[in-house]
Amino acid sequence: MQRIAIEQHEHILTLTINRPDKKNALTRDMYLSLANAINYAGHDEDARVIIIKGTDGVFTAGNDMHDFIAATSQTDAEINETEQFMRALMECELPIIAQVEGLAIGIGATLLLHCDFVYCSRNTILKTPFINLGLVPEYASSYIMPRLMGHVKASEWLLLGESVTAESAKDMGMVNEVLETEALKAKVTQTAQKLADLPQTALRQSKRLMKSNTIAVKEHMYAELKIFIAAMQSEDAKQAFDAFVQRS
Ligand code: COA
Repeated sequence: MQRIAIEQHEHILTLTINRPDKKNALTRDMYLSLANAINYAGHDEDARVIIIKGTDGVFTAGNDMHDFIAATSQTDAEINETEQFMRALMECELPIIAQVEGLAIGIGATLLLHCDFVYCSRNTILKTPFINLGLVPEYASSYIMPRLMGHVKASEWLLLGESVTAESAKDMGMVNEVLETEALKAKVTQTAQKLADLPQTALRQSKRLMKSNTIAVKEHMYAELKIFIAAMQSEDAKQAFDAFVQRS
């Protein structure tokens, strides 16, 4: 089974992050598969909606820690594939639905800021622990979160790295609905079907109009990435990555 399972049924493309033995942590090849699938769907007449989900019980534990460590030993740390994924999702004209169960950590939480609909199971826990790893926020989260939920709430996520329940994330405007697992799947399928049946040109135009601040968001994302890459080389970050992989 592929680490990113890609299935298209009628007009609905489902991308499943499928590395359950590692809590669906995202490696460079997985980012690239996601980016390619999203970019391809944008040009595929048949694709109308994208669903992104994890496997049962876990969305994703974020960036693979071993890839973080590998990046620290390069003189010029590249996070090319991650950036390709970020751009593909951000620029995608099709509506994107996130189906979130269990852990959504790091980019698993920040990618939700770039989806159009976010549905979570009751056991979902979201967390952006960049600060605990000696890192800074990514994926324009330091731009979008304060505007979405206010500075002090965003501080709980980005300055303290606290865990947030799906219900709290819903109160902060990041999540549409929190549902039982079976109801979650049904809701996502129903919403995807509804979107697939709508007038497609108007749907894409409407999304484009809603994303009129994309240039500012993108500029901020690249400014963050520069600082993020520098932070990956810091002693604090190296110690945090090592501490994770050396746990017994
Ligand atoms: N990168 C690489 N491997 C990861 C991972 C990550 N981000 N998250 C989990 N894994 C791996 C673990 O190393 C472990 O592998 P092993 O069985 O070979 O030892 C496996 O997934 C299961 O994880 P484990 O930590 O044993 O499960 P848990 O239920 O006790 O804890 C997490 C789950 C997600 C809370 C914990 O693994 C964690 O904190 N991961 C790091 C999250 C993170 O900081 N991501 C980066 C954000 S920027």
